[in-house]
Amino acid sequence: MKITVTVPASTSNLGPGYDSLGMALSLKAKFAIEPSDTLVVEGCPEAYCNADNLVIQGFRKVYEKVGKAMPPVHLTIESDVPVARGLGSSSTCIAGGMAAANAMLGNPLTTDDLFQLCTMFEGHPDNAAPAFFGGLTASFMHENKAVAVPFMPNPDWRFVAIIPDYEVRTEEARRIVPKEISLATGVHTMSHALAMVRGLETGDEALVRQACVDKLHEPYRRTLIAEYDILRELSLEAGAATFFISGSGSTLIAATCSEDVARTITDNVGKHYPHFISKILTVCHEGAVVMVEE
Ligand code: HSE
Repeated sequence: MKITVTVPASTSNLGPGYDSLGMALSLKAKFAIEPSDTLVVEGCPEAYCNADNLVIQGFRKVYEKVGKAMPPVHLTIESDVPVARGLGSSSTCIAGGMAAANAMLGNPLTTDDLFQLCTMFEGHPDNAAPAFFGGLTASFMHENKAVAVPFMPNPDWRFVAIIPDYEVRTEEARRIVPKEISLATGVHTMSHALAMVRGLETGDEALVRQACVDKLHEPYRRTLIAEYDILRELSLEAGAATFFISGSGSTLIAATCSEDVARTITDNVGKHYPHFISKILTVCHEGAVVMVEE
């Protein structure tokens, strides 16, 4: 039996939606898992070719959940999602491992069960939700359960992911976010996050420009990305509706409903930062997809 799981990358926060909004993007990670005599991991740096690999950890969690011992497997990774760049690579791995284990066990768990497990593992649901459900999701914890609410972004959106040649570690990016905020900042965040969702759904660039103003994390995290200001200026000058840090960075995203504007931004990034990667992405409406070959 060979199980192949394809999981979309995701961008989280989308400006004012810290730890709440997440959106699946058209960049995929593929994980193939087959029974094997010993554990074999290939397709990633040597340091991750062992039992600590996040795909294997996700796989093991599902076996633990159903009270079974995990069999040795051969895992092959083919991923276009860069590691530690704020594009949900950890979630793709954990979700991929979990979905594969569930398929190997004959699907004892529902997708929502897997989403709960993945959220527990990650500590927040905003990348886990798009990894399993695709699209744009608002997610939150209610009585120890993660709840994911789906929204339908306008298909015209182009998200230009500008991926620097360096990592930002999520732990560091979370550490510098203040743990307490004022009532005014809370009100600002709620109103702007709600408006952001509406703007993404309707393809209203003007509304998204007004709504995508964050006060919780971006003012602090931009200090970890030296090129933030200049790339923001470059993107907005080219006509982007808005510009935000993807997840905890280092990827930056310029959002626009115009393919021409998106192209201009990637061209300009290529000219000024040839060592950065920029990709024009769209929303991915599917979450993890499992294929089983007997
Ligand atoms: N919402 C999380 C953060 C995503 O911004 O820290 C990173 O995993």
